[in-house]
Amino acid sequence: MNIHTYEKAWLVASMVLIVGFIATITYGAVGPGIAMIDDDGGSINPDEINDHERFAEPGVTHVGGNEYEVAVVAQAWSYSPSQIEVPANSEVTFYITSRDVTHSFTVVGTNMNTMVIPGQVSQMTVKFDEPGEYGILCNEYCGEYHHTMEGKLNVVPEDEFDLTELSVEAPDEVQAGNETTITATVSDGMQSDLETTVTLELGEQTLERDVTISGEGSETVEFAVDTAELGTGEHDWTVTADGHEESGTLSVVDSTDGGDDSA
Ligand code: CUA
Repeated sequence: MNIHTYEKAWLVASMVLIVGFIATITYGAVGPGIAMIDDDGGSINPDEINDHERFAEPGVTHVGGNEYEVAVVAQAWSYSPSQIEVPANSEVTFYITSRDVTHSFTVVGTNMNTMVIPGQVSQMTVKFDEPGEYGILCNEYCGEYHHTMEGKLNVVPEDEFDLTELSVEAPDEVQAGNETTITATVSDGMQSDLETTVTLELGEQTLERDVTISGEGSETVEFAVDTAELGTGEHDWTVTADGHEESGTLSVVDSTDGGDDSA
């Protein structure tokens, strides 16, 4: 059979086109790491999110080494938490679910993008090499304020990241001559131990206490306050630990004129 040269050329050209199309589609589906939502993340009853071990308190958890987990709950029209901070050089697995309707969790300027479907947990693991700031937004229409649904993802330098929390209990007022205490609790959200110094600055006094907090534990430090040495008046205090700070004011009142506001 004799095929005309032009016809041969067209046959070859259309073959090349077909192969090219298939290659493009294959690359688009596999190359950039796109995956459909599957059952990996598991399913969840949206009515039981508040009792769920992962989603009851959504946020960042240290899993070990440079690995972290972030649990996010999407709802009309916000994310909990809306501000996410993770360290650079980390591998972060996101678990995201919805309380109500279908949303998305889209990290602007990256290829992180997943649908968030009520009843399903969307799971994706991402490596963050460099510090950076990213916006998070919802690109599934979810109602009147869909366009306001946003969050922020901060990848901070490793030495600026910690999961330490400091909480301080201190009285507002104490009568001169009475004893009182300022209590500081430091909790370590990392799996590793934390060695730090808890410092109380109060008036002219500076009190320090070294603590070692075991991974995922907390330590409470009580500072005894000498009101006689402080004297009456308003005294500003500051408690610091591991770069965190809390402050307040303690009033030492004279026992003869204190405690009676009705006069
Ligand atoms: Cu949530 Cu749009």
